[in-house]
Amino acid sequence: MCKSHLHPLLQRLPKCEHHLHLEGALTPQVLFSLAAKNHIELPKDDSAFASPESLVDRYREFKSLDDFLHYYYIGMSVLLDAGDFETLAWDYFTHAAADGVAHCEVFFDPQAHMERGVSYDVVLSGFQKARKRAESELGITSELIACFLRHLPPAHATATFEHEAVQASFAAGHVIGVGLDSSEKPFPPELFQDVYQKAGALGLKMTAHAGEEGPAAYIKTALDTLRVQRIDHGVRAIEDEALLQRIAAEKILLSICPISNVFLKGVASVADLPIRQFLDAGVRFSINSDDPAYFGNNFILANYCAVQEAFALSAAEWVAICEGSIDGSWCGQERKEELRARLRSVSEEWVGRCGT
Ligand code: HPA
Ligand code: ZN
Repeated sequence: MCKSHLHPLLQRLPKCEHHLHLEGALTPQVLFSLAAKNHIELPKDDSAFASPESLVDRYREFKSLDDFLHYYYIGMSVLLDAGDFETLAWDYFTHAAADGVAHCEVFFDPQAHMERGVSYDVVLSGFQKARKRAESELGITSELIACFLRHLPPAHATATFEHEAVQASFAAGHVIGVGLDSSEKPFPPELFQDVYQKAGALGLKMTAHAGEEGPAAYIKTALDTLRVQRIDHGVRAIEDEALLQRIAAEKILLSICPISNVFLKGVASVADLPIRQFLDAGVRFSINSDDPAYFGNNFILANYCAVQEAFALSAAEWVAICEGSIDGSWCGQERKEELRARLRSVSEEWVGRCGT
């Protein structure tokens, strides 16, 4: 919770989360309990795995994206059956509900599970159960985005995309889009043109991580060669003025993750992020938690608070950010109207109030 007098507004905004890796919601406590249940041996040669507490301590010292990813892939090795994936997603949804998330579009990494012998249908069935329950019990709507791992060969991504079960999930509308994650450098987006061309032909939504550690040029090639409609992170767009203007003009949503950027040493503090410049340039962005269990258990509201503490935005600016993240969501028009109506009622209460 931040000290700002706007904290109640931040809590009440009907938030849309667009950048959340479900595997990144695996807390050290759940990791250890699933490892015990599934008889998975955690690395013995790394003292970080001595206890959940020592793992939490190690997570506070990530040196880079790759250093984090090392732990992220070990972590997900404890997920085996559909119930494990359901537990993981439900854990996220309950945190999201407490933080005022109304709608989310969440990532998962099929290749990372299929490679270790866990079938796509097992992963999906667990997530689907949690999603249905989140909608009926928590009022949270959600969509799934399957990400390709850029450290693996592009042909591996294409083969995964063409897998029968993956295709069936697209056809059924259970997974609405594709993304690109994992080590950013030295894997420029254009390496994955083939699979994105196929995804575009199916009418899937498309996004890609770009400009987190990689240069602004990766954002440009994600737009030009992959034809993505959204960019995940994208903070390094600030290094290219023409690109920034284009992102604003084309209303490309950047799904930014402030606390993640600090944990992974992209910036020294949230205050160093180009949020003021994005607002001034009319860039549409949403604020997200990325891998909250790895980044201090900071879910979406903590990210909103961190931005408020660093930039002291006005109530009107928060309403505009929320409006942009509803507009940039991939839910249906009817759901967007519901979210806009909720936002209007919060806005009427807060905007124009003395001191906001
Ligand atoms: N960047 C790239 N890959 C990832 C991330 C991220 O922030 N989180 C999980 N996989
Ligand atoms: Zn991410």
